[in-house]
Amino acid sequence: MSLIALEALTVRYGEIEAVHGISLAVEPGEVVTLLGANGAGKSTTLRAISGLAEPASGDILFEGRSIAGLGPEAIVKLGIAHVPEGRRVFPGLTARENIMLGAANRGRMARRAIAEEADEMFELFSDIKPFADALGWTLSGGQQQMVAVARGLMAKPRLLLLDEPSLGLAPVIVQKVFSIIAEIRRRGTTVLLVEQNARMALSVADRGYVLETGRLALSGKPEELWRNDDVRDAYLGGKAAKAV
Ligand SMILES: Nc1ncnc2c1ncn2[C@@H]1O[C@H](COP(=O)(O)OP(=O)(O)O)[C@@H](O)[C@H]1O
Ligand SMILES: [Mg+2]
Repeated sequence: MSLIALEALTVRYGEIEAVHGISLAVEPGEVVTLLGANGAGKSTTLRAISGLAEPASGDILFEGRSIAGLGPEAIVKLGIAHVPEGRRVFPGLTARENIMLGAANRGRMARRAIAEEADEMFELFSDIKPFADALGWTLSGGQQQMVAVARGLMAKPRLLLLDEPSLGLAPVIVQKVFSIIAEIRRRGTTVLLVEQNARMALSVADRGYVLETGRLALSGKPEELWRNDDVRDAYLGGKAAKAV
């Protein structure tokens, strides 16, 4: 059974139909990437899964059970964590405090146990270890992104939704973020990764889907998508990118 399956999902913002009847599935243990240009409906799809946007029609099945219409708190308790676009680190809390907040869905836990788990996160995200006690606002964009992903992992999710983790980061930091995604996958967490950086996303994914103005245009294995001229034209500047 798929871990998550979207069945003819449609999502509207008032008159605007942002997602038109898309169907896709993620199997346990997979990293699946959802690619598409700005405005294609990628974030809306993740928001629907995590209960932040209500489906207008269609269904969302988590382990075969419909979660469409549940609120965000119920969904995070089921084991779906969403790291939204744009980082959202609390500026007045330290990196460690921000990360500890991620455990809130797991019911009552001793603060010390949560702090110990946060310390384990600083082993995985070793770049931010020296900044554990630094306030959120003092962190660089890349450091904030790592804090946001670590916070998502603190929920011990069965499914991690990552929305454009590479956005606005320097190439060397992008490499680090993607190597962390590869490590998350090795540890067995299933990931649905939204990206505009098709090249990096396809390098870590098992499969990919391409959204075009709210509709699924293509799907396949990374090498199939990579060979597809339409994908390269849309995301990588066309023929010039073929040599990459
Ligand atoms: N809160 C909102 N209200 C109205 N329209 C929105 C809202 N959020 C997104 N949209 C519109 O929905 C479409 C899909 O947006 P989005 O899912 O954010 O795309 P992506 O993440 O692929 O860039 C776009 O046309 C966007 O303008
Ligand atoms: Mg988006």
